[in-house]
Amino acid sequence: MPNKRIQIFDTTLRDGEQVPGCQLNTNEKIEIARALESLGVDVMEVGFPISSPGDFHSVQQIASIIKDSTVCALSRAVEKDIEVAAEAVAKAKRPRIHTGIGTSDSHIFDKLKSTREKVLERGVAAVKFAKKYVEDVEFYAEDAGRTENEYLAKIVEAAIKAGATVVNIPDTTGYCLPWQYGEKIKYLKENVKGIDNVHISTHCHNDLGLATANSIAGVVNGATQIECTINGIGERAGNASLEESVMILRQHKDLDFDTGINTKLLKSMSELVSSKMRMPVQPNKAIVGANAFAHSSGIHQDGVIKSRETYEIIDPHEVGVNESSIVLTARSGRAALNFRAKKLGFDVTREEMEGYYQNFLQIADEKKVVQDQDLIVLFSKTAAHSA
Ligand code: KIV
Ligand code: ZN
Repeated sequence: MPNKRIQIFDTTLRDGEQVPGCQLNTNEKIEIARALESLGVDVMEVGFPISSPGDFHSVQQIASIIKDSTVCALSRAVEKDIEVAAEAVAKAKRPRIHTGIGTSDSHIFDKLKSTREKVLERGVAAVKFAKKYVEDVEFYAEDAGRTENEYLAKIVEAAIKAGATVVNIPDTTGYCLPWQYGEKIKYLKENVKGIDNVHISTHCHNDLGLATANSIAGVVNGATQIECTINGIGERAGNASLEESVMILRQHKDLDFDTGINTKLLKSMSELVSSKMRMPVQPNKAIVGANAFAHSSGIHQDGVIKSRETYEIIDPHEVGVNESSIVLTARSGRAALNFRAKKLGFDVTREEMEGYYQNFLQIADEKKVVQDQDLIVLFSKTAAHSA
């Protein structure tokens, strides 16, 4: 039985690019879009064309270049937005318009000053209007995470009837717990007519650090598309991270899901986005952080040197990282020091090692991380001399 294929919808160039200080010019966006295409994303959302002439231009340029991924543009449930989005993606080989409206009581009553009935009508009208331009229309129910399930099912069903090919269920405020988000998707699967003929999409924000977990809960309960960003960037605390979502599905064979992502490009993709957006990646970030495959405690180093799998669940090569690293600090043990000595070309006896190790600890306490240069100096002395 083949794995269930999950669509990866990358929104680095839309939700990610909304982050203050992360704005890109057209050339930078094109470079990232090309890299996303090579990475193998199924869909890339590349802008909100009504928002500015620059964004419109970038979406238009990317749409005319990208061939292998669907190119998607965002709009509100407003005719002018949709017209402009349609014009921006007109040259795309596979164009998609993403349109929708807030569906939680807070959005309907406080933001839109409207009613549930009118919001449903606007959602349906937006989908129908977008269908005049493209076949592939994705409907989003903004703040679905805090929308009552019965009403959510009603508007999603109406959007499907109006022609939506994908229904996006955003946890816009990152409020849901994984099982609550999963139950929401299950509820829609069980209560919406026509749902089996469309893709259900997750779009989870990270306000409580649950964006990736919620996306996976969504998929386990029937969603077939994950919206995510490189390095998890996005509004406020960000979106579900692409690299985490993809690697969870890949590593958990028991779930029987897969994506079309070339995981060997994940590390370089992360570096590209980080440098273009001037947004450093936290060292302990899963999959792509500088410490994701670095081992510093003596117990862990001893284990990894004997067998990588003792402390690593991912082969670093799988995500484009050359090798695991053994970081030498005052918490490192003799096994790690011996391992590094061999790598640097020094053949050290067990007796000599004891002397070197005591010296090494002094250097480590002083310098925090001991570099190869320090070790070359250390091993070039005799054990007796250094003791
Ligand atoms: O978070 C959200 O709800 C969104 C929608 C516009 C899809 O970004
Ligand atoms: Zn969002």
